[in-house]
Amino acid sequence: LIHLLSTEGLPRDVIHQILDTAGTFVSVNDREVKKIPLLRGKSVFNLFFENSTRTRTTFEIAAKRLSADVINLDIARSSASKGESLLDTIANLSAMHADMFVVRHAESGAPYLIAQHVAPHVHVVNAGDGRHAHPTQALLDMFTIRHYKKDFSNLTVAIVGDIVHSRVARSNIHALTTLGVPEVRVVGPRTLVPGDLREMGVRVCHDMAEGIRDADVIIMLRLQNERMSGGMLPSAGEFFKEFGLTPEKLALAKPDAIVMHPGPINRGVEIDSAVADGKQSVILPQVTFGIAVRMAVMSIISGNDA
Ligand code: CP
Repeated sequence: LIHLLSTEGLPRDVIHQILDTAGTFVSVNDREVKKIPLLRGKSVFNLFFENSTRTRTTFEIAAKRLSADVINLDIARSSASKGESLLDTIANLSAMHADMFVVRHAESGAPYLIAQHVAPHVHVVNAGDGRHAHPTQALLDMFTIRHYKKDFSNLTVAIVGDIVHSRVARSNIHALTTLGVPEVRVVGPRTLVPGDLREMGVRVCHDMAEGIRDADVIIMLRLQNERMSGGMLPSAGEFFKEFGLTPEKLALAKPDAIVMHPGPINRGVEIDSAVADGKQSVILPQVTFGIAVRMAVMSIISGNDA
């Protein structure tokens, strides 16, 4: 593995290698290891052309825990604002001896374009491209599911909300089906769930009760208002009534179901505070596990498998 651009086509044994390696970075109290020298002398460039709280920060922490030098390019203050192209930006940062680019971009495919133009020793990690893919989010979600449920082979996983605009949904569906999860459901209104997902082997539900009944894992997604046009956008109130996860709706799932969300959460839109902050929520452990999983991805693609 040289780059990590998508979970589509990522072999099952590679996913398990990443999860197992991440497991070696998590200590008994679920906190990741402090600092190891695997990427000492390497330069990791964080290029976030789209905003981020969790992904950018956990990549920075992960790279620092691996002893890399981390450079966070402030895109808004960079010469991209003067019209410098993406590939010229990359060429100039490569001239500063970059070893890895972690890229988030609003355009689907931008990390692929970069990967085609970097020198062979330079690695690219997709930190979210448009509505296409968010592979490290999916991998940290798989790590979280494995942590709480131990095994993928008997699970029912429901992904609920704005599926059509969600790179997280797409990346999770690829990872879950590769790992052999027998029932993956996508749940949401007709305007926000693409019908072609059935071809990916998932069950499409437009009724919340049907979608989450007896689920072991519920992954809630936010309405991506920034990617919607006119008629697609349901009002927050309408959406919450039909698809918002409340304690009453959660009671339809298995009693030990876990509730996940990639963040940022919109309380009272897709999730009730009583659920987001409740006993079954693993939303904040997901964030913590993201550090170990990103450490694993960076160490494996650098050829420094722990
Ligand atoms: N889950 C996620 O990608 O969050 P950020 O947009 O804050 O990075």
